[in-house]
Amino acid sequence: MDRIDKIIVAQTKYSRKDVKKLVNQKRVLVNGEIILKSDIKVDSEKDKITIDGLELTIKKHIYLILNKPKGYISATEDRTMQTVLDLVPKEHSHRDLFPAGRLDKDTTGLMIITDDGEFSHNILSPKKHIKKLYNVTIDIPMNEDMVDGFKNGVVLNDGECKSAILEITGTNTGRVTLTEGRYHQIKRMFGCYGAKVIELQRIGMGNFTLPDNLKMGECRELTEEELKNIKEN
Ligand code: URA
Repeated sequence: MDRIDKIIVAQTKYSRKDVKKLVNQKRVLVNGEIILKSDIKVDSEKDKITIDGLELTIKKHIYLILNKPKGYISATEDRTMQTVLDLVPKEHSHRDLFPAGRLDKDTTGLMIITDDGEFSHNILSPKKHIKKLYNVTIDIPMNEDMVDGFKNGVVLNDGECKSAILEITGTNTGRVTLTEGRYHQIKRMFGCYGAKVIELQRIGMGNFTLPDNLKMGECRELTEEELKNIKEN
């Protein structure tokens, strides 16, 4: 059993003061009955809480997808630069959100933002082998040496990379599949072949692909099905 005001504050944009007001205005019901005090205890798993006739759905965690544009850093706050959290709809701002994994400031595409540390750890841990898929454009033609090297494990200054897949999709373009996420990994891997990455976009994680209809800069909640697909390989 938890205090109803605490539950509402955790699940909505309302503050404790707002909840008091809502209760005083008789806008909060528990199992169909108006409540008169904002500190009553309820069972959030069994009791039905409604505010202005709308049922409160209790979510322990939230999972958002962002189509990250260039120019945003993968951090929760920064004194000068815009962060990916600046693109999260305000209705989620009461949660302790963070990006699950980093994309460079100039990398675009699929980014998961959540308040679930365990989930984040699971999808990022190299031990779980969750695939991350990227579209990449480099400044020189792609070649078979790169394909072989990626497969055998490129050696970077912080050690050998796990086997990765490079599919050549055009003269200067390719698709890379990684199961780990080191600092500037793809840029450094191509750097070993004297190539510079011009464009980098993450397009998939696990069995999930960046939806075509999610515009650059847009952020929305993931469906159960999408969430399941992210965790699968
Ligand atoms: N590899 C990079 O070099 N940068 C990214 O943002 C992601 C993978």
